[in-house]
Amino acid sequence: MAWLVALLRLVLGVLATPLHLLQLLGLWAPLCKRYFPHFLRRFTALYNEQMAGPKRELFGGLEARARTPGRLALLELGCGTGANFAFYPAGCGVTCVDPNPHFERFVARSLAEHRQVRVERFVVSAGERMAQVDDASMDVVVCTLVLCSVRSQEDILREVFRVLRPGGAFYFLEHVAAEPNTWTAFWQQVLAPTWQLIFDGCDLTRETWKPLERAGFSRLQLQRMQAPLSWKIVRPHIMGFATLLSQAPGVGEV
Ligand SMILES: C[S@@+](CC[C@H](N)C(=O)[O-])C[C@H]1O[C@@H](n2cnc3c(N)ncnc32)[C@H](O)[C@@H]1O
Repeated sequence: MAWLVALLRLVLGVLATPLHLLQLLGLWAPLCKRYFPHFLRRFTALYNEQMAGPKRELFGGLEARARTPGRLALLELGCGTGANFAFYPAGCGVTCVDPNPHFERFVARSLAEHRQVRVERFVVSAGERMAQVDDASMDVVVCTLVLCSVRSQEDILREVFRVLRPGGAFYFLEHVAAEPNTWTAFWQQVLAPTWQLIFDGCDLTRETWKPLERAGFSRLQLQRMQAPLSWKIVRPHIMGFATLLSQAPGVGEV
């Protein structure tokens, strides 16, 4: 099958020649950063409609994570358009972190629709190094559909450990690689390089549960699921949360 994957990848690569040319000229990345928020706003509306159940289940207990009752300090890693605000409890203060500054006005729009949430600040930074965020300052870190496109999942988790207070929790909902030897896995392999180019670095084939399991959280609750989405290729998901009883050193060894 590897030869067929390679052949189909080649065909898609040829079809995507204009994009590759733009990339070679250094023009694609800035263009992609501008159009991606517009695409994501539409995608998010559909995703939230189809994933409302799992998101409600995941974020249902957030309120209880607040160190100061009624004032949850939440860091949203790769916040995008502010897709999760609808699911956050009243009194939630969100620190948004995203390397793409073009998302800021979409966050403002989402905020206007979800008045129970307060955005403390929008930090333009990759999650691998969030120097502007203090150690042990967050009750909760949330990450949805982000770990597929980051440069280093290990560095991200190291930063999550740093910014979470002892007793804090990391919530995740991510699409992941399909079970091996399935048609979904086959098409993920075929589409991956072109998909990554079009969708701002999103890798369809990441086994994101592995670094999470190795990271050394005190407790990890991770559920694999087939998300009820129209796009079959991104249905394999993981969802859950991990808690941190103390500033564990484990992530350094990931
Ligand atoms: C598919 S979008 C998901 C946005 C949002 N979390 C959601 O659920 O709709 C991926 C987001 O991750 C951001 N991102 C990409 N690389 C990142 C990194 N290294 N650190 C933090 N965020 C990153 C992108 O800019 C984008 O906002």
